[in-house]
Amino acid sequence: MLKEIQMFLCIFFAFALGIFYELSVEPGCLFACKPISKTFLTQKEVMTQGRKIIFLETTDRLQPPPLVLCSVESAARIYLDRPIVFFMKGLDNNTLVDVKSSCPALSAISAMKNVFIFPLKMDILFQDTPLHPWYLKVNTTQEKYWVYISSDASRLAMIWKYGGIYMDTDVISIRPIPVTNFLAAQSSQFSSNGIFGFHQHNWFLWDCMKNFVENYNGDIWGNQGPYLMTRMLEGLCNLTNFHKIEDKRCHNISFLHPQRFYPISYQQWKKYYEVWDSMPDFNDSYALHLWNFMNHERKNMTIGSNTLVENIYKKYCPTTYWSLVQAAEGNKQMSLNKTS
Ligand SMILES: *[C@@H]1O[C@H](CO)[C@@H](O)[C@H](O)[C@H]1NC(C)=O
Ligand SMILES: *[C@@H]1O[C@H](CO)[C@@H](O)[C@H](O)[C@H]1NC(C)=O
Ligand SMILES: *[C@@H]1O[C@H](CO)[C@@H](O)[C@H](O)[C@H]1NC(C)=O
Ligand SMILES: *[C@@H]1O[C@H](CO)[C@@H](O)[C@H](O)[C@H]1NC(C)=O
Ligand SMILES: *[C@@H]1O[C@H](CO)[C@@H](O)[C@H](O)[C@H]1NC(C)=O
Ligand SMILES: *[C@@H]1O[C@H](CO)[C@@H](O)[C@H](O)[C@H]1NC(C)=O
Repeated sequence: MLKEIQMFLCIFFAFALGIFYELSVEPGCLFACKPISKTFLTQKEVMTQGRKIIFLETTDRLQPPPLVLCSVESAARIYLDRPIVFFMKGLDNNTLVDVKSSCPALSAISAMKNVFIFPLKMDILFQDTPLHPWYLKVNTTQEKYWVYISSDASRLAMIWKYGGIYMDTDVISIRPIPVTNFLAAQSSQFSSNGIFGFHQHNWFLWDCMKNFVENYNGDIWGNQGPYLMTRMLEGLCNLTNFHKIEDKRCHNISFLHPQRFYPISYQQWKKYYEVWDSMPDFNDSYALHLWNFMNHERKNMTIGSNTLVENIYKKYCPTTYWSLVQAAEGNKQMSLNKTS
């Protein structure tokens, strides 16, 4: 019975998501005009297009939770003219079709015009980069932070090979980032790696991959992630304090002010799950990082709570939001049926 309910929710959710997306993006275009052109775009064709937004799932999980869907949807809405590419490790060439039929939620996000879902194949990704010898040697079963480390490595190789912007799946896009080569400051002297962008084959990322391997220490969380970005940047420039809300330049890299992505700092992450007197306008930000890794309590977006996160969903990923509402109502209906 539980399984049936899950299946029902899954199908319902996907169906609602698909319809809401069609309605909100193209009124009058329900079912009739699918984005045909997209069907013929191979991974190679997509990846040679400039200015992509890249998301990664480095666990084998195949059913993205709502926050991930919201993150992808918000990017798809803000960057209508760019491909949004979601790489999932759990997919291989053959499973996408199976997965779509068993849980169409994935199918629904991939139905968005500019969203593409491809398998993440690290062995191929790391080829022809400084990471390859390390990847062949590392014993993944002994690495306690492997999901993070493999993600840190993959994002460097992706953006080096293909160019574009990398985003964590808990980043909600709210307006386009106006620069191409950039790192996101978490503070004056600290760079995150949760979001960054570069031209294809940018020397900085090549140097990051070399440093990744030379200073590899899998026992220290973030040593290949934000600490890597920070020590590379420190090696290039003196990281002086930010003045007002102005970005900095280090050679030809923009070091974007903490307000751009972290208007709410990680110490204050719970504020996203609180009720605010009014919705902040986040005028100085391009995206909001929701700090999901801090969220051990598994706080989530609760419908009707009027929390900041609910208002963010409503505004920046309305398709995801309304399909959650529909799924919740479907759920209620089912339990009513069960008890009656
Ligand atoms: C997956 O696709 C790649 C490239 O198209 C191909 O080289 C590989 O053999 C395929 N793998 C499987 C298991 O079909
Ligand atoms: C990797 O580590 C595991 C656990 O310590 C061990 O059983 C396995 O043999 C190692 N694999 C290789 C290829 O060294
Ligand atoms: C950073 O500042 C120190 C002293 O303030 C100076 O010696 C050094 O050359 C500077 N480094 C760079 C990369 O500008
Ligand atoms: C950026 O700076 C690096 C090092 O200073 C230089 O090698 C590279 O040519 C520059 N790239 C552009 C596009 O200016
Ligand atoms: C933020 O932007 C909106 C619209 O662009 C504007 O009305 C508002 O005054 C701005 N708020 C601040 C604090 O600058
Ligand atoms: C979301 O939060 C509610 C209330 O705290 C909880 O009951 C529910 O299990 C959570 N859902 C998920 C998917 O974690």
